[in-house]
Amino acid sequence: MASPSLIVVSGPPGSGKTTLAHLVAQGVGCPAICRDELKEGMVHAHPGFVPGPVDELNLKTLPAFFGTVEYLLRAGITVVAEAAFQDKLWRPGLTPLLDLARISLVRCLVDPDTAAERIQRRFDENGLRGAAHGDLAHLEEVRTRTLDFDPITLDVPTLDVDSSDGYRPGLPEIIAFAAARD
Ligand SMILES: Nc1ncnc2c1ncn2[C@@H]1O[C@H](COP(=O)(O)OP(=O)(O)OP(=O)(O)O)[C@@H](O)[C@H]1O
Ligand SMILES: [Mg+2]
Repeated sequence: MASPSLIVVSGPPGSGKTTLAHLVAQGVGCPAICRDELKEGMVHAHPGFVPGPVDELNLKTLPAFFGTVEYLLRAGITVVAEAAFQDKLWRPGLTPLLDLARISLVRCLVDPDTAAERIQRRFDENGLRGAAHGDLAHLEEVRTRTLDFDPITLDVPTLDVDSSDGYRPGLPEIIAFAAARD
């Protein structure tokens, strides 16, 4: 059996990474494991949970996230794994997976004003976001340009995607990059 692929989708708050992760997974033909969604699923079993920029469910989602991704890769299943992937926090979780899969990295970028608009609109329209995520703290940091975000770097094929206006490069190119086997 050849190695499965692990397509890592990363980026700061509001950069469009969860949206893009699902589009890439659909294009490649594989599951997307999204950290946000694991946390949203966890909130149901924690009545009264109050989210914050750093909270106890953020910590609990980490082993669930990496454990799920590792389980799928060990079963030979190609997977899109999506999270912010700040370098310092996430590199230790990703490094052990390097031996299990062909890894590629997609890093989403967006201009901060667009990110702030999108985070606010999503918060207003989707009540679950407010129940599960500390979006308003991030929103303030994005607006005031005080967000401390250190993009992940790994010695693997890497594609930077600007999602400010559609996708640059375009979605077909992003999917071709993610599906490449060489
Ligand atoms: N290329 C795009 N053009 C226009 N709107 C977009 C684009 N990508 C995402 N959006 C919208 O912007 C909002 C934020 O996108 P998304 O939730 O994918 O970002 P995220 O990076 O996962 O954010 P977070 O880090 O807060 O989870 C969503 O409401 C989504 O529909
Ligand atoms: Mg998200």
